[in-house]
Amino acid sequence: MRSTVVPLYQPARLAGLIPVMQSYVDTLAANIAACPDQDCVPFCQLSLRMAIDIIGRTAFGIEFGLSKNAAGTGSSSSESPGGGEGEGDVREFLREYKRSMEFVKMDLTSSLSTILGLFLPCVQTPCKRLLRRVPGTADYKMDQNERRLCSRIDAIIAGRRRDRATRRRCGPGAAPAPAPLDFIAALLDAMESGGGGGGGAGANKDFALADRHVRALAYEHLIAGTKTTAFTLSSVVYLVSCHPLVEAKLLRELDGFAPRRGRGRAPDADELQSGFPYLDQVIKEAMRFYVVSPLIARQTSERVEIGGYVLPKQGAYVWLAPGVLARDAAQFPDPEEFRPERFAPEAEEERARHPYAHIPFGVGPRACIGHKFALQQVKLAVVELYRRYVFRHSPSMESPIQFDFDLVLAFRHGVKLRAIRRG
Ligand code: HEM
Repeated sequence: MRSTVVPLYQPARLAGLIPVMQSYVDTLAANIAACPDQDCVPFCQLSLRMAIDIIGRTAFGIEFGLSKNAAGTGSSSSESPGGGEGEGDVREFLREYKRSMEFVKMDLTSSLSTILGLFLPCVQTPCKRLLRRVPGTADYKMDQNERRLCSRIDAIIAGRRRDRATRRRCGPGAAPAPAPLDFIAALLDAMESGGGGGGGAGANKDFALADRHVRALAYEHLIAGTKTTAFTLSSVVYLVSCHPLVEAKLLRELDGFAPRRGRGRAPDADELQSGFPYLDQVIKEAMRFYVVSPLIARQTSERVEIGGYVLPKQGAYVWLAPGVLARDAAQFPDPEEFRPERFAPEAEEERARHPYAHIPFGVGPRACIGHKFALQQVKLAVVELYRRYVFRHSPSMESPIQFDFDLVLAFRHGVKLRAIRRG
């Protein structure tokens, strides 16, 4: 099924999403400006709202509307999104999403099947199948929630189908509406044309898409693409705001861009790709410093020996911990230092490093499908935010900062920042 969506993340398509992403980045900046307390901007919350809205628009083709109305967000409000915005179905949908994210835990507060799976992976699936039939268990609640979320996604898909039929009924006389960019629309196109992919090279001709696939893909993107991206943006801003030399160097690079394009103009795809080398290093280093996906799972397909250890048979579970790799002093000297220059192409450290030492997006055929999408969004946001602001830690933020170690790393109490307008 993966090959079905890969074409949707080709560079040309991603470039087409820049204006949509930029509009939500502008709203993020406006929300920061409108925060009642400029000494305590709840940055994680605002960036998560942006990330969810961007997935809403680009994956589902609908406006979740979380960023709108976020302006009055004060420091005392909850860090979780979906607290009352939106209307009707969208609001309900976001509630289900929020509950789903609460279930995604990998610690001893998680469901019994997940806890067992941490120690004995082979019993996780049978145990989950059993427990999700037992009312009152966390597995049961998770299952019920997942069903509700999926039925809401089905309703969105059905709505998109109706819209398409209505557009077609408008007849040949009507001005043709621009083709929607979102990926449910692209998948519905592919289904109607009998294909198995999002079109273009790489689409899978042997795979017939069904509604349940579209739903599964949309669900996966909502869960995989929101908290991760918001966390990454928050880490970049948090870390830059306490490293003045990094900030000064980054500002020099970003300010150098403005005269080339004129103030207020968003960078285009080529500029994002190669016009901000230091920003690239800052993002890589932030993703090393705080590894957002602490675990990557694989199952062996054959007997294999790795580093002197034999993984005995087909089907053995293997957990990779990119966070441990990221602190390996042999690959990253002085790993506790936040030093983006270690990723400069000319740095000796960079040249000597093992190519798989830094794998925040995973590696191989199951690596993150949305990594370019995420980086595009983070870069657009950094360029825009630092055009208007510099940030400092809010006096009301805890020190040292605390984390929740779930399937996705999270700042336990968010990131609270002082936003200082640039002249
Ligand atoms: C900074 C943000 C992100 C990080 C750090 C991240 C990280 C990861 C990691 C570590 C994996 C597992 C890779 C593996 O097993 O080797 C993954 C998988 C995945 N990610 Fe991301 N991700 C991010 C953003 C996104 C976005 C924005 C989307 C969608 C728009 C997305 C969609 C997916 C999907 C669909 C998979 C499953 C791929 C598969 O199993 O074939 N991710 N991501």
